[in-house]
Amino acid sequence: MKNVCGVDGIDPETQVVHSIGSKAALTILPACFINPGDVALMTTPGYPVFGTHARYYGGEVHNIPLLERNGFLPDLNSIPSEKLKRAKTLVINYPNNPTGGSATPQFFAEVVAFARKHNLIVIHDAAYAALVFDGKPLCVSGHPGRDGRRDRAALDEQGV
Ligand SMILES: Cc1ncc(COP(=O)(O)O)c(C=O)c1O
Repeated sequence: MKNVCGVDGIDPETQVVHSIGSKAALTILPACFINPGDVALMTTPGYPVFGTHARYYGGEVHNIPLLERNGFLPDLNSIPSEKLKRAKTLVINYPNNPTGGSATPQFFAEVVAFARKHNLIVIHDAAYAALVFDGKPLCVSGHPGRDGRRDRAALDEQGV
């Protein structure tokens, strides 16, 4: 996290769990978070594994389209309120497979604010984070606000 995304302050003893790959992690995570009736927010086209397993636990998937006209970023305001009320997780994947879209710091700021407002767990599938040709790898975990306690000051500064 530090070397690729520049994310400091993660405690390897209490905040890191190993998996044998991103796919394995995405299959196991719904067991931690998804109960019957919960909604998993996903993006489409995309890597569907988290959603497949969320359904195994009685969850429902709401897919947000990734459109070229939006830079292949999801329009978070398009989520119907009935789904949002039951939403537990938001899965994003950047750099994105298969669109090739890249996230921006502004988008991550929007995601963090949205997740805090709607009490969502953000899962950033960063399988391709190290694979950038312009700029630096970006990771939502490096964004102020990911940790409510530690980053309050940074959020206050941004007015989030
Ligand atoms: C977006 C995305 N996430 C996760 C994976 C799975 O990666 P891993 O080989 O680490 O299990 C893939 C593999 O195609 C992928 O495209």
